[in-house]
Amino acid sequence: MVVDDATVVLGIETSCDETAAAIVMGGYDVISSVVSTQVDLHAEFGGVVPEIASRAHLDVLNPVVARAIVEAGVEEERIDAVACTVGPGLIGALLVGVSAAKSLALAWDVPFVGVNHMEAHLYAAFLEDRSLEFPLLVMLVSGGHTMLVEMQDHGRYRLVGQTIDDAAGEAFDKVARFLDLGYPGGPAIEAESAFGDPEAIRFPRAMMDDGYDFSFSGLKTSVMNHVRKNPGVGTADVAASFQAAVVDVLVTKARRAAAEVGATGIVLGGGVAANSLLREELLEACERDGIQGFLPSRAMCTDNAAMIAAAGWHRLRSDGPTPLDVGATPNLRLPFLD
Ligand code: KG4
Ligand code: ZN
Repeated sequence: MVVDDATVVLGIETSCDETAAAIVMGGYDVISSVVSTQVDLHAEFGGVVPEIASRAHLDVLNPVVARAIVEAGVEEERIDAVACTVGPGLIGALLVGVSAAKSLALAWDVPFVGVNHMEAHLYAAFLEDRSLEFPLLVMLVSGGHTMLVEMQDHGRYRLVGQTIDDAAGEAFDKVARFLDLGYPGGPAIEAESAFGDPEAIRFPRAMMDDGYDFSFSGLKTSVMNHVRKNPGVGTADVAASFQAAVVDVLVTKARRAAAEVGATGIVLGGGVAANSLLREELLEACERDGIQGFLPSRAMCTDNAAMIAAAGWHRLRSDGPTPLDVGATPNLRLPFLD
């Protein structure tokens, strides 16, 4: 099969708490992108409940796919392949998307393409700026992941560093819960920080000068210890000081890693990339270092199916269709270079 600028891919994403479908042409042109979030369903539990996630995907996936096709204004016959996240993610949630994607591929007699969700995050930036040049340093910061990846070319990635305990978003969520700020924690901490002094408390910056790995669990413990020892402390000051510590570590390490790999720029991805302080400080650092800072829109940083369709297009071009016996794989890893 020829995979080119006219190849139309339907992307499907159900790995966590977003049900999404999108139509992308030629790997870069987003014709439609529909995302239905379940965040309200999980909020009262303070985190994603896997069983609720799978049921919600089942309820809304068909209408979400139908809407993506209608909004794109393409006939079903124009769809050349169906790409879907096969992992990593929640097994029940993944299965909903994978079963639907395979059924559609069979019904339409087009290839099925299994996509690694993390690889798709790497491609999200290209949907907004096709001119990005390799090598790039991508910082993926979400509720489940914190990693620095050197993107040398399409399909050629090297893991530069990652968290050894909590993900950055997880740290935001846990600290927000401890401070009674609600769920999801990132936006709540960011909002509260606006009223606080980021220099009020000097929280530790773990492993700041030590390699490219991250550790956030000690920071969370320091926040808890500080509040317990100082019951009168202002929540806004704690939130702002915590946020400053996380951003400081992320930006310092990304910058150092970009210099080490000779990256043309730093690309942000993942839900935490919505954080305004992180965006500001990363851009400033890139300007100082004379490299490009690329901050995709919030819609492209968080889970969506346009990035799945894009990564699917690249995979289809390099590897061809995925056999239908490849199933949902909760712990799927990216094939990093050594
Ligand atoms: O990528 P994402 O939508 O879902 C996955 O984890 O896959 O990321 C969600 C994470 C949550 O931990 C949330 O608290 C965090 O991103 N987040 C933020 C902000 N908005 C979302 N963290 C810091 N500041 C924000 N403004
Ligand atoms: Zn994600």
